[in-house]
Amino acid sequence: MNKGKNILCIGAGYVGGPTMAVIAAKCPEYKVTVADIDESRIEAWNSEKLPIYEPGLLELVKKVRGKNLFFTTDIAKGIKESGIIFVSVNTPTKTFGEGAGKAADLQYWEKTARAIVEHAEDSKIVIEKSTLPLRAAEAMHRILHSNTKGLDFDVISNPEFMAEGTAIGDMQNPDRVLIGGMENPSGKKAVKAIADIYAHWVPGGKILLTNVWSSELSKLVANAMLAQRISSINSISALCEKTDADVTEVAKAVGMDSRIGPKFLRASVGFGGSCFKKDILNLVYLCEYYGLPEVAAYWEQVVKINDFQERRFVKNIVRNMFNTIAGKRIAVFGFAFKADTGDTRESPAIYITKMLLEERADLSIYDPEALDNATRDLKDAKGKFELVKDPYECARKAHAVLILTEWDEFKKLDYGKIYASMEKPAFVFDGRNILNHRELFETGFNVFPIGSAKLTHLK
Ligand code: UDX
Ligand code: UDX
Repeated sequence: MNKGKNILCIGAGYVGGPTMAVIAAKCPEYKVTVADIDESRIEAWNSEKLPIYEPGLLELVKKVRGKNLFFTTDIAKGIKESGIIFVSVNTPTKTFGEGAGKAADLQYWEKTARAIVEHAEDSKIVIEKSTLPLRAAEAMHRILHSNTKGLDFDVISNPEFMAEGTAIGDMQNPDRVLIGGMENPSGKKAVKAIADIYAHWVPGGKILLTNVWSSELSKLVANAMLAQRISSINSISALCEKTDADVTEVAKAVGMDSRIGPKFLRASVGFGGSCFKKDILNLVYLCEYYGLPEVAAYWEQVVKINDFQERRFVKNIVRNMFNTIAGKRIAVFGFAFKADTGDTRESPAIYITKMLLEERADLSIYDPEALDNATRDLKDAKGKFELVKDPYECARKAHAVLILTEWDEFKKLDYGKIYASMEKPAFVFDGRNILNHRELFETGFNVFPIGSAKLTHLK
């Protein structure tokens, strides 16, 4: 068995699954095994209904599953048989003890490192794929070298930059692949082994080799800077609503400056997802830890503006619906944190629906992919709400429709039909600015976009 051609990935989540499916498809001479402690997840990966929704993923998995891509719960066997081990277990924000609310909870990640030490019978290359705090590779290195079997491990940082909904395309055609390694001969050899995998489909110029710490920090900074752009434009959306400026026009005008660029300037109800908030808070914690309170406060503001934007959206609804939404049916369109995914982690919809329930609104919620996750997210929520599988049914007898996710599907609905079925006056609060506001207004709706003037028939 050539273990150097056997890849194991521990953690069959949003990151591990799609990443390994692409590697298996692009590198037929490697055997790729994805292992997870969660039996039901592995069962799902082996079925027709994968545990995550990602465009193109099922087709890709079906091409390689059983050939050179395998899903298993037998982590120990995977470790024994593989020379290359990717670790992509989850690293949520700590909810307890030192650093609670900011630092990463590394317990799963450390358990995984210890499992590698326990089951390895020879030396391995271990790659961190989970986002981790700075110097985590060093800690991983120390745990792995605590082994008494005389084994040597090379630890590599290879952060992922895939966005959900476009994960397969991002992985097949990445802006760059970042590989950080230790600067010694064995570290360099390990980096080359990982670069060789990506070289199957990524041009050399896009494979960036750095030291481990630069690689780890780059991941946090990339996410922090993307989120910062959203908070920047969202802060301006609040100002636009007070003036006659339109945030979409401002974003376009600003983004046409080639130094700024047009992407990630869409004003919204706020950003969500498993990474942005967690990574920024991680960065904040690091800065505090290293005695840089000014830098910490600077980045923390990105998260504070996001919270402000979510609260502001709810306040706007209450204020404009005659200062009360108690007992009023409100239709929520979209629960996923973004379009083309069923993922709801840190979705603005969670916070917004909970705030609406506190106002005693009577909610009906529709999402094309995220209703299962929404059920879980709202299981302890108090108040009246129902999850509905059809958008027209969701809006029936509602006083307002809220757009919380930018699903294409929402643009194509028959709003004349929706309007006719609603209570009057009927409101639309477009938290993603995806609908045709003028048309809605002409249909009879009172329309409240993000960051531009409301269109209302109310005197
Ligand atoms: C994960 C991390 O959360 C994130 O920090 C990083 O940026 C990318 O990797 P994701 O793949 O989205 O993100 O996480 P998730 O979908 O929760 O998958 C993690 C998987 O690891 C789960 O299936 C979980 O069962 C598994 N796991 C967790 C293990 O196999 N062993 C453990 O000890 C803990
Ligand atoms: C992000 C990073 O983009 C990716 O590189 C990293 O690997 C993981 O984290 P993801 O969280 O999947 O990916 O989604 P992303 O497309 O970045 O969107 C994050 C959030 O920002 C979503 O809630 C989205 O709706 C919101 N967003 C995005 C805006 O509100 N406005 C924008 O202009 C862009």
